[in-house]
Amino acid sequence: MAKRVKIYLDEKEMPKQWYNLAADLPKPPPPPLGPDGKPVTPEMLGAIFPMNLIEQDVSTQRWIDIPEGILEMLVRWRPSPLHRARALEKTLGTPARIYFKNESVSPAGSHKPNTAVAQAWYNKQAGVKKLTTETGAGQWGSALAFACSLLGLEAKVFMVRISFDQKPFRKMMMQTWGANCVASPSNETAAGRAVLEKDPDTPGSLGIAISEAVEEAVTDKSGQTKYSLGSVLNHVLLHQTIIGLETKKQLKIVNEKKVDTVIGCVGGGSNFAGLAFPFMLDKINGAEINIIPVEPASCPTLTRAPYHYDYGDNAGLTPLLAMHTLGHGFIPPPIHAGGLRYHGVSPLISHAVNLGLAKPMSLHQLECYEAAMLFARTEGIIPAPETSHAIAAAIREAKKAKEEGKEKVIVFNFSGHGLMDLVGYDNYIHGRLHDYALSEEELNKFTEDIKQFPTPPQL
Ligand SMILES: Cc1ncc(COP(=O)(O)O)c(C=O)c1O
Repeated sequence: MAKRVKIYLDEKEMPKQWYNLAADLPKPPPPPLGPDGKPVTPEMLGAIFPMNLIEQDVSTQRWIDIPEGILEMLVRWRPSPLHRARALEKTLGTPARIYFKNESVSPAGSHKPNTAVAQAWYNKQAGVKKLTTETGAGQWGSALAFACSLLGLEAKVFMVRISFDQKPFRKMMMQTWGANCVASPSNETAAGRAVLEKDPDTPGSLGIAISEAVEEAVTDKSGQTKYSLGSVLNHVLLHQTIIGLETKKQLKIVNEKKVDTVIGCVGGGSNFAGLAFPFMLDKINGAEINIIPVEPASCPTLTRAPYHYDYGDNAGLTPLLAMHTLGHGFIPPPIHAGGLRYHGVSPLISHAVNLGLAKPMSLHQLECYEAAMLFARTEGIIPAPETSHAIAAAIREAKKAKEEGKEKVIVFNFSGHGLMDLVGYDNYIHGRLHDYALSEEELNKFTEDIKQFPTPPQL
């Protein structure tokens, strides 16, 4: 009999509550600030988000019930399988046991639908008719397009230009689910036109696309259009915690009592938080777990950027968030991991890192592609370029366990498949990719602008 590689949960065992890390942090994170430098009120956020999601965003309740209507949508692909990467372990010759939570099994191919269906559902409850959003690699845009199609909502997606050009199939997926997808910066908003005027050939950025999507939502006078964000904010991270909660149940089934290392790639931080936050609770309660958020070395937010108040978008339409940030004017180099090209990172994750609850790592794209190729040729699944960062970190940790002769348990989030990202693989295979290092001068230049904003308390 072949050894077990997939651990499934029955549909009945799917978690019925999300876990809210805000309930257990030894110190609360600094609040978002409005243009007057004072903490934003829920009413101020009401122009962008429905009140039911704003309430979730500021909640400090530990467990939050998942409404039945959302469970009915999640069960279409959840619980997702946890895999033991036996073939990868064998090739590496490591004594470590490597597990990956396979979020690529969702209809859109990543973890993003976990929050997309929740956000679309709460918006529908609030009487909203249309959602606007941005997308980097196209994973979030297609997830929201899928969710809106289930609930009969209109969706408009601003897709970062470089990904729009590199990943036409993502756009086609969104159209198949009925969404309108435009390249960002576009001529359809004042924020987009302002950027195009300065730099008509810009590759775009998530920060610019967010500005466009927020502008389109707040300028709809009917009040029936809201904006939806695929990462960064507390409620988005909350919806993703179903990943880590399922993983814990699955590890119990195979008798794994102690997890040594938990890894996730980080753009805005949602898939990392989804897997890691339930383990962070154990860490807060005394467990020894190495929790590693992994980011691109070309966009080194957690590893090198200052902790400061900054806008979440390029045009300054969002509240000021306390986070590690490369500056809202930062245009990341055109690496293939489009979903990791963001100037900031979730305030909750920034705070957790400052508290020592997680230890970030940054990696260059060539090492990540090498890891993705090894993964594809051992485990078989072709990873998204974003996911390859988590794989490369897991491989590093597994090699370290080999050197130390330790039987470690390593768990990483397989955040999405790369079947729509094959142009990046083609470029890698033909030697057309290279690494981008961010110089100190560039870092200082982009972060100069944020000095005008308040400094959050440094821990
Ligand atoms: C497959 C995949 N993984 C990771 C990310 C990064 O986002 P986050 O940090 O919110 O998980 C993205 C974003 O588009 C993605 O598509």
